[in-house]
Amino acid sequence: MRLEEAKRDQYRRLAREEGYKSRAAYKLLESVRKYGLVKKGDVVLDFGAAPGGWLQVAAEAAGPSGLVVGVDLEPVDLDEANVVTIQSDVRSPDLPLRLDKALPRKADVVLSDLSPQVMGTWDLDHFRQIEITMAAAGLMRGFLREGGDAMFKVFDGERFGEMRSTLVAQFEKVHVTKPKASRKGSAELYLVCLGYRPASRTAATTSG
Ligand SMILES: C[S@@+](CC[C@H](N)C(=O)[O-])C[C@H]1O[C@@H](n2cnc3c(N)ncnc32)[C@H](O)[C@@H]1O
Repeated sequence: MRLEEAKRDQYRRLAREEGYKSRAAYKLLESVRKYGLVKKGDVVLDFGAAPGGWLQVAAEAAGPSGLVVGVDLEPVDLDEANVVTIQSDVRSPDLPLRLDKALPRKADVVLSDLSPQVMGTWDLDHFRQIEITMAAAGLMRGFLREGGDAMFKVFDGERFGEMRSTLVAQFEKVHVTKPKASRKGSAELYLVCLGYRPASRTAATTSG
């Protein structure tokens, strides 16, 4: 446990030193380095974006010719030329229209680091996290280009398999990862999804 706390403090300190808004930044950075997630010129959609660590990492990787659009219940205090944020619930009925206006074209990458306020009742927290993550996956279908990539945080538990199957049906490859900056004791896992195949979802759906 002490070792875990030290590791958390180490990433927190590193984030402060390197000017990132959160230590969560290092979780995305690991996948950017390992899988080439987010490239120069990419359009990126980031759900659960506050306080903005992932926005910073994605904005750096996409560069000035790219654009990162973040969505969160909370406001994001970040001044980057290639970042736009929308304050909204991912389940809000008017969000698709707002995304349509904010995005110049379909996104190359969809990110989701959504977490509800954790209440400490594990099953409930897990179900609530899956519910909002499913909402993000639903939005992804309208806004991710064919061949695009994604990364979703998922709390492990009873509905983890359902969430993974939903994504496996829509991507060529899905990797389940636990980034170094994620506490070992925490039940969060990250699904890195490569090669979006919107048609196979239709096929999977129609074949039952
Ligand atoms: C772990 S934080 C994200 C950290 C972020 N990736 C970063 O690097 O700074 C999870 C975020 O999910 C947001 N969130 C939770 N429920 C939401 C919902 N229904 N709609 C939109 N955002 C939500 C929270 O407000 C919180 O900012």
